[in-house]
Amino acid sequence: MSYKIKDLSLASEGKKQIEWAERHMPTLMEIRKRFEAEKPLKGINISAVLHVTKETAALVKTLKIGGANVALAGSNPLSTQDDVAAALVEEGISVFAWKGENETEYYSNIESIVKIHEPNIVMDDGADLHAYIHEKVSSKLDIYGGTEETTTGVIRLKAMEKDGVLKYPLIAVNNAYTKYLFDNRYGTGQSAIDGILRATNILIAGKITVVAGYGWVGRGIANRLRGMGARVIVTEVDPIRALEAVMDGFDVMPIAEASKVGDIFVTATGNTKAIRVEHMLNMKDGAILSNAGHFNVEVDVKGLKETAVKVRNIRPYVDEYTLPNGKKVYLLADGRLVNLAAAEGHPSEVMDMSFANQALAVEYLVKNRGKLEKKVYNMPMELDYEVARIKLKSMGIQIDELTEEQKEYLEQWKSGT
Ligand code: NAI
Repeated sequence: MSYKIKDLSLASEGKKQIEWAERHMPTLMEIRKRFEAEKPLKGINISAVLHVTKETAALVKTLKIGGANVALAGSNPLSTQDDVAAALVEEGISVFAWKGENETEYYSNIESIVKIHEPNIVMDDGADLHAYIHEKVSSKLDIYGGTEETTTGVIRLKAMEKDGVLKYPLIAVNNAYTKYLFDNRYGTGQSAIDGILRATNILIAGKITVVAGYGWVGRGIANRLRGMGARVIVTEVDPIRALEAVMDGFDVMPIAEASKVGDIFVTATGNTKAIRVEHMLNMKDGAILSNAGHFNVEVDVKGLKETAVKVRNIRPYVDEYTLPNGKKVYLLADGRLVNLAAAEGHPSEVMDMSFANQALAVEYLVKNRGKLEKKVYNMPMELDYEVARIKLKSMGIQIDELTEEQKEYLEQWKSGT
């Protein structure tokens, strides 16, 4: 079995971390039990690009227990947990990932997990693997379908669908209700702040914070910052989302204005250059810049590096940039997703649902081999409900069921006032 990781001797430490994650992932463990008995993925080759965290390990182990052969690469140069990567190699997973890859290594690892076996299922977080297969692999592969974990990846895949270039069907796992309503909102909401705190250890209470983007991630972060006593400003480009932010009680203004008053900035737009150099030049001395969106393009890091007159590393994941106007701004995790680079990513409890969806999506693609079109599908609703049901059960929460009379009432149109 081939692999490329930082240090295999970290495996025993990684095993304990995975155990800790699995303890908090009851939905995925329930699915694992069934996979163990039924082996729905027997003989299936899976190539996956996912953040190599303890939660991803719980997913990958589940796929293997279901019968699959899995090769895994990281979906960000800074997000791999090296002890977890080592533990997975000991579990028989071909891992090609380590924390601190450069860009060439990152893409070479993606290449390795495709070359190692001919994938039948392709799993991705950010669509770099899907794009690689579409652009760079000329040999004919027997791919039944693929999955996509995050908003940015789904946006890229929809663009590929629009261009008519998709080579296999895809399931937008991100668009499952039991994914984005929880993972993006509560998961990133908490872990982005965790990343900022681990990097800086600053006090949130009383700070003026600026959240760029009031999507599912942005609203999670904004609400949690408020809960910790911060004053929160939201910037948006979508009038409906901006209106929601206003009525949720946040100050809303353009970034040109917000940049003058913020102490801490967090981007969550899925877009490029939400914070540009012109805004950085407005900022107060000591302002902190961070990003929670998928790619490192939301804060114009390249522009900042070109403009700064001096750069110093202050502590892990905190770089000080002195601007030509003499003010200093502090960039966290080099503008990469702060929750995965400076902390551990989402808590296991939300990844439980995201990865339960991933496991069910893979099983669905295998079951429906040859029956799906080359397009981007949403997660089938019955699977979304299944994840919610198992999760509620694991939390000991029961809900009501519709009576026959209620079902009939909801399906008729004749009875009104
Ligand atoms: P979303 O589409 O729900 O929200 C993005 C929001 O940003 C939209 O309301 C949009 O109008 C706004 N926006 C776009 N350009 C803007 C600009 N220039 N200034 C201000 N607002 C702007 O997307 P979602 O689900 O909130 O995801 C956001 C990003 O976070 C994506 O890149 C996604 O892949 C990533 N993500 C990261 C996670 C992590 O672990 N760090 C986890 C989940 C998602």
